[in-house]
Amino acid sequence: MKEAVVARNLTIYYGGKPALSDVNFELSEGNTLLLLGPNGAGKTTLLRVIAGFHREYQGELLVFGRTPLEAREFVSYVPQSHSLNEKVPLTALEVVSMGAIYKRGILHRKIPEEILERAAKALEFVGLGGIGGKPFSNLSGGQKQRVLLARALISDPKLLLLDEPLSALDPSAKAEVASALSKIKSKRGITMIITTHDINPLLDIGDRVMLINKRMITFGKPDDALKDEIIKAVYGPLARTIKVEDKLYCITGDLHIFRGEKK
Ligand SMILES: Nc1ncnc2c1ncn2[C@@H]1O[C@H](COP(=O)(O)OP(=O)(O)O)[C@@H](O)[C@H]1O
Ligand SMILES: [Mg+2]
Repeated sequence: MKEAVVARNLTIYYGGKPALSDVNFELSEGNTLLLLGPNGAGKTTLLRVIAGFHREYQGELLVFGRTPLEAREFVSYVPQSHSLNEKVPLTALEVVSMGAIYKRGILHRKIPEEILERAAKALEFVGLGGIGGKPFSNLSGGQKQRVLLARALISDPKLLLLDEPLSALDPSAKAEVASALSKIKSKRGITMIITTHDINPLLDIGDRVMLINKRMITFGKPDDALKDEIIKAVYGPLARTIKVEDKLYCITGDLHIFRGEKK
């Protein structure tokens, strides 16, 4: 199987100071990697380096056998908080179309018909066939996230980098987005790296899991990586609960991380 991403002895710096070190992994084409770690662990940093946006690193990093910069045409990156100005009244279809227009580096007054058709298909693919004409700002959180997925898909990437696509969504919206991600994996075979605090909705599609906390703690198949002692090494010695972004996560057994009620 061909490797989509290979990192060997990768250390990433900001202004000469290491932010994330000892990163070693190989991700095969078509596989999905779930990237876990507490706030400030370096998750976004790793995604941005793979996307070719941050270049201060040492060691080897290959994306489809190229440097991240050379591989940018194959990669779509969906940042955690989208940078769309919601005061600009764009429809869902226009937001998705932007994914194709930016990629080509052309500015249009009018979006070409061919791109609108592709955008409509991409919306349909993520289960939002009927909402193309609606203002983006009026959509629910789960719908917005799926519009952003469609926008990332329209350029036909080989690698999708998703920064906390489930954050700030209620459980049913999380399930909708997780199901769209699952479809991207099964129907399109796109390699994905997904950062998440809530691993449960994504466990089905995770072929590999990486836990990081300023350095790589572990990388492997979910059953091997999600061990109690490893979780503790990442999140500290707290027995079976972890708190991330104000939410309490409980760890029961070696596979289940679920949100418990804060006492
Ligand atoms: N632009 C930046 N300049 C300097 N330090 C940064 C920058 N972005 C992130 N960092 C630092 O790098 C570390 C990892 O941050 P980040 O990748 O955002 O973590 P995560 O996404 O896991 O919460 C943190 O200590 C953060 O303060
Ligand atoms: Mg982050």
